Amino acid sequence: MKLDMTKQEEIKRSLGEKAATFVESGMLVGLGSGTTATHFIDSLIKRYQEGLKITAVSSSISSLERARSGKIPVVDMKEVSEIDLTVDGADEVDSKNRMIKGGGGALTREKIIASSSKKMIVIIDESKLVKVLGCFGLPLEILPFGYLATIQKIQKLGYTGNLRKKENAPYITDNGNYIFDIHVPDAFPHPEKDHQQIINIPGVIETGFFFNLPSAILVGYLNGKIAFR
Ligand code: 5RP
Repeated sequence: MKLDMTKQEEIKRSLGEKAATFVESGMLVGLGSGTTATHFIDSLIKRYQEGLKITAVSSSISSLERARSGKIPVVDMKEVSEIDLTVDGADEVDSKNRMIKGGGGALTREKIIASSSKKMIVIIDESKLVKVLGCFGLPLEILPFGYLATIQKIQKLGYTGNLRKKENAPYITDNGNYIFDIHVPDAFPHPEKDHQQIINIPGVIETGFFFNLPSAILVGYLNGKIAFR
């Protein structure tokens, strides 16, 4: 489902505001990445400036810079073993709350943050709800070392895709790696199986599949309603 851009932006802002209301003083908060997560960070900055006492940890350099621009103290993930609450967006969510993430290329850090969180709220507009994962594609973070050989192994399994580019050069993640975007004509009816096959390839660091991670999915609808699904 395609949503009007302005309307979609409005929904993302409301989702960010709503998600920020679940943050309590004393929490270590995981910051997701992407446009919806950025609205959450902006609302969190507002609450922080009103007196909410929190510390954050970030899944990307851009979210870290955004939070620090609002003076939120952000600690390095090297110092953290458990996060109280993470709020992040997603590219697709199915009826079993399985997700595809990585549209912004931050999938590996996002997965580490999500899997280290006691609670995770995923904020999405209704266009992200899908019957079967894969309409958007599947981002993989891959090591630059031997990347052509890695891509050949991915292709030998029957997956086609493209190396993500930025200004005619390979897109580089915050970890210094590449992104290979798989595109499938019929989506992924058995995503766990696909994940397992792909992650076994040497050089593949992470897939954009997220399983068993969100505690809750907060959906923003076109009619202005926001509800947990
Ligand atoms: C970044 C992500 C984002 O959460 C995902 O791409 C959704 O982004 P947006 O909120 O901009 O639609 O996984 O790696």
